[in-house]
Amino acid sequence: RRILVLNGPNLNLLGTREPEIYGTTTLADVEALCAAEATRHGLQATCVQTNSEGALVDALHEAAAAGDVVGVVLNAAAYTHTSVALLDAIKATRLPTVEVHISNPHAREAFRHVSYVSPVAEAVIAGAGADGYRYAVDLLARRHGAA
Ligand code: DQA
Repeated sequence: RRILVLNGPNLNLLGTREPEIYGTTTLADVEALCAAEATRHGLQATCVQTNSEGALVDALHEAAAAGDVVGVVLNAAAYTHTSVALLDAIKATRLPTVEVHISNPHAREAFRHVSYVSPVAEAVIAGAGADGYRYAVDLLARRHGAA
């Protein structure tokens, strides 16, 4: 069984993108730490990054259809603050979803204070840096990963 780790726009640039905000951990590092945490719980991690909103929706549909995804770690990045489509996809698929942000959006610009994902997220982890992904995988594995 698997956990889907879904990263949205501009997160492919992690490591070099505004390192004072997002740190120097790369997307490859994030995906490796998610895989290691999933393995620790006897699960696999499937990691997807896309800059396109529709592809995020498609990835959620595919995860639900696959039947072996126990939960989703979702950093929808900027689409967090805009995407009714993502909100609807999480509702439609009913996949347990943990919303992750590397930074703490509530400590930043007002437009980052709204999340369309939070109302349907099982938990929200923000401001913990890249470690937030590890905590999210751990949470999903503990709650939904039992065989
Ligand atoms: C982010 C926060 C968002 O506001 C921003 O648009 C991102 C990254 C984070 O991980 O801190 O791209 O989701």
